Amino acid sequence: SATIRVAEHAGACYGVNRALELARRCALEHEEPVHTLGPLIHNPIVVEELAEQGVGLSQSLDEIDRGSVIIRSHGVVPQVIEDAQARGLSVVDATCPYVKKVHKAASNLVHEGYDLIIVGESGHPEVEGIVGHAEGKAHVVASPQDLDGLTLGKRVGVVVQTTQTAANLSAVVAALAPLVSELRVVNTICAATSERQRAAASLASEADIMIVVGGKNSGNTRRLAQICHVACPKTHHIEDAAELDRSWFDGARLIGITAGASTPQAHIERVVSAIEHMTAQS
Ligand code: F3S
Repeated sequence: SATIRVAEHAGACYGVNRALELARRCALEHEEPVHTLGPLIHNPIVVEELAEQGVGLSQSLDEIDRGSVIIRSHGVVPQVIEDAQARGLSVVDATCPYVKKVHKAASNLVHEGYDLIIVGESGHPEVEGIVGHAEGKAHVVASPQDLDGLTLGKRVGVVVQTTQTAANLSAVVAALAPLVSELRVVNTICAATSERQRAAASLASEADIMIVVGGKNSGNTRRLAQICHVACPKTHHIEDAAELDRSWFDGARLIGITAGASTPQAHIERVVSAIEHMTAQS
C-alpha cells in the first residue's frame, strides 16, 4: 500500500502559527471584541475559522472601538501600536520575533549613523514596518538596479526583508561594496522559505506523486508547485481536500505532500486523512 509523507518543512511558519495561537487564545480569554489588523494569514478559510472563534478582521484602527487588537507576524510601524494604545485598545503584538530582530537591527544602524538600505519589496507590509522602525530613514532596494541614482553616505548599513533570497542579498551587497567606504550587513533572512523549498524538492525527487496545498493565487505556493514539478511531473496544486481525485494515486507507492506559507497544519492533516481514506479503499 502507499506511503504518505509530508515534507519536513511545510505550511505555515513558526511566526504565523504563533500569531494564530496568540489570536485564538486572546479571543478565548477576553469577553471584549478581538480584531486583527489586516488578515493574519492570506487564507480566506482560516480568516473565516478565526471569525467563528471570535477573532474579527478589520482593515484599520478606525473600525475598532474597544477590546483587543492583534498585530500580525509581519509587524507594523511603531506609530500603529502607539495609536492603538492611545485609543484605549489592548495590543497583542504577534510580530514574529525574527521580524523584531530586523526592526532592532534597522533602528540600531540608523542610530549609529549608517545610511540604511532595506533589501526587500517596497510597499510590502513587513518592509513598511521596518522603514517605520528606521524612523523613515531608509532606502528600499529590490535588486541591484535599484541602487542606480541613490545618493549614499560613506557608511552604509543593510538589513533584509525576512523572505528574500540569499542570492538577491548577495547581489545587492556585491554592487554596494565598491560604492562605499564602510558596509555593515545584518543578514536578517529567515530560513523558513528556503527550508520549505529545499524540503519540497527533496521529497518530490522520491515521490511518485506530489500534492501541493495552498491558495491558487499564493505566490509562494505556486513556487513550491513549480519546484516539485521539476522533480515529479505528477504534481497537483490544490486548495483543499475536495479537489483530490482518487485516480491520481493509482499505482503510487510514495505520495508526497507539501504546503505553502498560508496553509495551517490542520489543513495539511485534513488532506493527509482524505488521501489515506482514498488509498485505503482502492
Ligand atoms: Fe515566518 Fe517569522 Fe520567518 S513570520 S517566514 S518565521 S520571519
